[in-house]
Amino acid sequence: MWVVLSLLLLCSSAFTSPLALAVEVTYFDGFLPNGNFEEGPKPTDLNKTVIKGKYSLPKWEISGLVEYISNGPQPGGMYFAVAHGVHAVRLGNDATISQSIPVKPGSLYSLTFGASRTCAQEEVLRVSVPPLTGDLPLQTLYSSNGGDTYAWGFRATSKVAKVIFHNPGIQEDPACGPLLDVVAIKEFYPPMPTRVNLIKNGDFEEGPHLFHNSTNGVLLPPRQLDLTSPLPGWIIESLKAVKYIDSEHFSVPYGKAAVELVAGRESAIAQILRTTPGKLYNVTFTVGDAKNGCHGSMMVEAFAGKETLKVPYKSHGKGGFKAASFKFTAVAPRTRLTFYSSFYHTRIDDIGSLCGPILDQVKVLSVKH
Ligand SMILES: *[C@@H]1O[C@H](CO)[C@@H](O)[C@H](O)[C@H]1NC(C)=O
Ligand SMILES: *[C@@H]1O[C@H](CO)[C@@H](O)[C@H](O)[C@H]1NC(C)=O
Ligand SMILES: *[C@@H]1O[C@H](CO)[C@@H](O)[C@H](O)[C@H]1NC(C)=O
Repeated sequence: MWVVLSLLLLCSSAFTSPLALAVEVTYFDGFLPNGNFEEGPKPTDLNKTVIKGKYSLPKWEISGLVEYISNGPQPGGMYFAVAHGVHAVRLGNDATISQSIPVKPGSLYSLTFGASRTCAQEEVLRVSVPPLTGDLPLQTLYSSNGGDTYAWGFRATSKVAKVIFHNPGIQEDPACGPLLDVVAIKEFYPPMPTRVNLIKNGDFEEGPHLFHNSTNGVLLPPRQLDLTSPLPGWIIESLKAVKYIDSEHFSVPYGKAAVELVAGRESAIAQILRTTPGKLYNVTFTVGDAKNGCHGSMMVEAFAGKETLKVPYKSHGKGGFKAASFKFTAVAPRTRLTFYSSFYHTRIDDIGSLCGPILDQVKVLSVKH
């Protein structure tokens, strides 16, 4: 799906009559061109599964050992589950695929992509849109069916963004490496804090592209800064991902989306607030469960200023939520508000899938004395 925007540029000069010049720019929203890899190389451009030639994969440029993979059992005895569609690419040692797309300079975007490791534990997928680059460790499988999707954010610095996926690894088997099965993009219109509420995007309504029939949510990888985060306004801290979930497939307390804290103390989300030292603030939020079979005694911890709040929540995995609030006095012009889950949880029907409490409706209001 893509959107055509017609920009009408009006040019005039003292010597010619005013001239209307229409320039058509095509921006993408949804799958990148051949973003699900269903358009394959010509049979003559394949040696078994290995793609021959830099431009043989439609709409993409490749280098190194890139394989064109079909869902199911593989010749070598492996089995690849392609969660989105039927085809995927596998990036071997030092392999790269890339594509250049039109973007709006200064705008914030996120890429959503399906990625999984295939043989080695320590496989890494490097995502870049120069000058920004990030390494995505794939060793943790968050869902047992191999359908993990990730989001990664960037800010466009020119009219064309080169989207690059690279396997920086050097494995003994040069064909080992991450599988990439779908790539989509979304432009953000980041919400601003209001005069009353200091939090940006506290309801998590602005977030990465979600695939309609992907029931796993989207993982937001660790070490994302707020300036380019795939969850506008928020920092993803620590070592593991948090999950972005939608109301179409999960129970969320408010609106269309929420965040699931899937990796205990190893995954936290935070936001930096502009505060006035000495002033008192009231933080309110809801915690609950996503109705995804995630059960047990849960606890969400929140931190701001010198205050901490631990909110216990008993989950039966059937959906539900409760409100919590605490006050803090700002000690600096910037205050970091952080949330994480105290415990680890897995799904009752699938102990291979990490899950946890959900967070929504975060507000920070100044309290008048
Ligand atoms: C296919 O790949 C094999 C193994 O790398 C190589 O020996 C062979 O020459 C290639 N065949 C063609 C037609 O390129
Ligand atoms: C999603 O569903 C559509 C239509 O039902 C199907 O064509 C497509 O292959 C599916 N895509 C994914 C991401 O599984
Ligand atoms: C903070 O907000 C909650 C929810 O609106 C409210 O119940 C509580 O009284 C507020 N606390 C203060 C100190 O204003």
